[in-house]
Amino acid sequence: MLDATVFNCNVLTLPKIHNRAGNITALNNSMDIPFDINRVYYLYDVPGGEDRGGHAHKELQQLIVAVSGSFDITIDDGCNKKTVSLNRPYYGLHIIPGIWRDLTNFSSGAICLVLASHRYDANDYIRNYNEFIKMKTCK
Ligand code: TYD
Repeated sequence: MLDATVFNCNVLTLPKIHNRAGNITALNNSMDIPFDINRVYYLYDVPGGEDRGGHAHKELQQLIVAVSGSFDITIDDGCNKKTVSLNRPYYGLHIIPGIWRDLTNFSSGAICLVLASHRYDANDYIRNYNEFIKMKTCK
C-alpha cells in the first residue's frame, strides 16, 4: 500500500472467445485475473463532462473494464502518474491498493465494469489527496 507504484498496475488482455455471431469474455477467479472477486459493480449513465473516482483504497484491488464505450483512468502513486484509455471490452486495468485514481472523458453510453477483491467498505477509502500523499513513502 505505502510503496505501491503505478508501474505495478497493468492493462491485462482478457480472454476472448470469438464467434461470427459475436464475442464472449469470461473471467474466472484467480485464473484470468490476479485476485478473487467479491463484488461486481458498474458505472453507467455518466453525464457528459462528469468525472468519477477521486480516491484511493487501502486494501481493495480492482480490475476496470470499458465493456461499452470509452473513458480514461489516471492513476497516481504520489510520485508518478499514468493515464490509460480504455475502449475495448477485452482490456482491463488492474489497480492495486494504494493508488489514487481519476476516471474522466466518459463517452456517451459508456459502461465501466469494476471487479473488486472485497465487498464495499467505506473505511477502505482514502478520499483526501493530501492524506493520501502523507501515507506514501515516495514524496
Ligand atoms: P464511489 O466509490 O465514490 O464512486 P466512484 O469511485 O465511481 O466515483 O461511490 C459513490 C457512492 O456509492 C458512495 O456513496 C458509496 C456508494 N457505493 C456503495 O454503496 N457500494 C459500492 O459498492 C460502491 C462502489 C459505491
